[in-house]
Amino acid sequence: MVGLLTLGRVVVAGGLMTYVARQCRKPSSVLGRSLARGMNSSHEPLTRWGLSHITIAPNASALDVGCGGGRTIETLASLATEGTVAGIDYSAASVAVARDRNRGLIARGRVRIEEGSVSSLPFPDETFDVVTAVETHYYWPDLSNDVREVLRVLKPGGTFTIIAETYRGRTNDWLYRPLMRGLLRATYLTPEDHRRLLSDAGYRDAAVFIEKRRGWVCVVGYR
Ligand SMILES: C[S@@+](CC[C@H](N)C(=O)[O-])C[C@H]1O[C@@H](n2cnc3c(N)ncnc32)[C@H](O)[C@@H]1O
Repeated sequence: MVGLLTLGRVVVAGGLMTYVARQCRKPSSVLGRSLARGMNSSHEPLTRWGLSHITIAPNASALDVGCGGGRTIETLASLATEGTVAGIDYSAASVAVARDRNRGLIARGRVRIEEGSVSSLPFPDETFDVVTAVETHYYWPDLSNDVREVLRVLKPGGTFTIIAETYRGRTNDWLYRPLMRGLLRATYLTPEDHRRLLSDAGYRDAAVFIEKRRGWVCVVGYR
């Protein structure tokens, strides 16, 4: 009897963890919307650190891919004060939260947010000076092709920045690896894998920055 009860608890806990993991990959429910809002706050220090590695001109045209709840869009708009910012996410729930957060900027024509996949960006070639991807590249379906698709929409000289909360080989990797590979079914790359990912795709001067204590990674490449 006790054994059955324990087994039941393990099954329920496992199901719950899988459900939350799926909502991180693609928010779709009430929980997904609230996760997107929560990530707006929890990813803020990481995003600020990552953006400190690039220069954003006041008149820049920027795109945030996998924009989630839209906080990075708002930050980009505050840096590109005379520019425009686009956001894209394949989750309708994320797009709804991001639009709600940025409604003032959308009304002023500074921001537009669309539902769509990184694999087929709904923008012409050479549209953006800056493209960012915060805590999202792990989930992209075909990472090599997807970073090439980002390169297509970058203007010559434009910057692509991947910012992420963890990387393969970080401190306590043994804890993160099963979570990333098993539960989240995420692509889990080393710093060198990240650098090679961008240079093999055709980016210039690909560079990787590490915040070792927190296990953060920021990868920058130029068109
Ligand atoms: C963990 S959330 C991070 C959201 C946001 N960038 C942040 O820092 O809070 C990952 C987001 O990436 C989006 N995403 C994942 N795969 C995607 C894809 N192939 N194309 C577009 N968006 C994607 C998800 O829908 C989700 O909103």
